[in-house]
Amino acid sequence: MINKEPIRPLSIDGTGHYLPQLEVGNDEFRQLVDTSDEWIRTRTGIRSRHLAEGEAVWYMGAQAARAALADACCTAEEIDVILVTTVTPDYVTPSVSCVIQAELGARRAFCLDLNVACSGFVYALDLASRYLQDPAISTVLIVAAELLSSITDFTDRSTCVLFGDGAAAVLVRRGDGTSGIHAVELGAEGEKGEVLTASIERPTSPFAAADRGRFPLRFSAARPTLQMAGREVFRFAVTVLADSVQAVLAKSGAGMEDLDYVIPHQANDRILEAAAKRLGISSDRVYAGLDTIGNTSSVSIPLALDRCRRSGRVRRGDTIAICGFGGGLTYGAALFTL
Ligand code: COA
Repeated sequence: MINKEPIRPLSIDGTGHYLPQLEVGNDEFRQLVDTSDEWIRTRTGIRSRHLAEGEAVWYMGAQAARAALADACCTAEEIDVILVTTVTPDYVTPSVSCVIQAELGARRAFCLDLNVACSGFVYALDLASRYLQDPAISTVLIVAAELLSSITDFTDRSTCVLFGDGAAAVLVRRGDGTSGIHAVELGAEGEKGEVLTASIERPTSPFAAADRGRFPLRFSAARPTLQMAGREVFRFAVTVLADSVQAVLAKSGAGMEDLDYVIPHQANDRILEAAAKRLGISSDRVYAGLDTIGNTSSVSIPLALDRCRRSGRVRRGDTIAICGFGGGLTYGAALFTL
């Protein structure tokens, strides 16, 4: 039986998302690389994805944030903290969260960006629940925003068909104690970092050693575009998705029967099926909404949460597990009552 009282109360009062208008079908990739709709659909579950035509990360994030604020009947002045998850910030500085703060007029909020790749939303929700234990903080805005097309190599068929752009936001308040986090499991396996990389291009300092061999690069194969060893990531994903959900259930004294719904990071339908099988849960209790979205990194979980809330798939009082995995490598799961 699940412990009734959440260990860290919070209430998800609003959700929203933004997807670029441009929807690119699988067939359009045939002009770029040697691929087919059939290969992409059967290996991933993806039929199309939304790609930005110039939207900045902050712009997509602010649009999603406005939708979440409206949903929660919350004004920008009420926000105490803005957390942004992204691997594609518009600038090294200012952070995306600061730009969104200015855009919304959330003058009272302090702001920080998190880079945990596709696991980002789980980490952000954990952090929000910890901030909300401070009596001075009652309202946290989490925004996930990713412009993956800006780090995609559109000549690499093994990666370019997988990703999409977009943003999603969640407005979290402390709540009355009936809803909130039961357990969280977070982790990283930095020694596997080389299986999913993208580098940052910078000018070379005039003081840098000409002999680069003195300071060898950790990930010498990294390029400014995403490089991925797909099979290794696949294996990692299936294992950590199932294990981290089991870990949060065990920590909270819950069983699979207490779980109303699982919302995993959306990277590949086959990963979701394999993880559901490993967990021993029927696939109709596991969200799968990849077909018209693709992999949107940290956006995928809050985007799914928004869709599920708005469609009535999840309701107040439901016990939900979210779980993510991605670059780092990182992973995380959280069990909460909505
Ligand atoms: N169209 C056609 N063929 C393609 C292709 C494409 N878009 N991409 C790869 N192929 C080819 C490969 O070149 C390979 O050909 P070969 O056998 O002649 O060498 C063949 O398909 C099989 O490639 P492989 O990489 O073994 O395929 P896979 O079944 O492992 O599927 C992924 C590839 C990327 C879909 C899969 O590994 C995956 O989803 N991994 C996890 C990725 C992920 O989740 N990343 C994000 C982490 S957040």
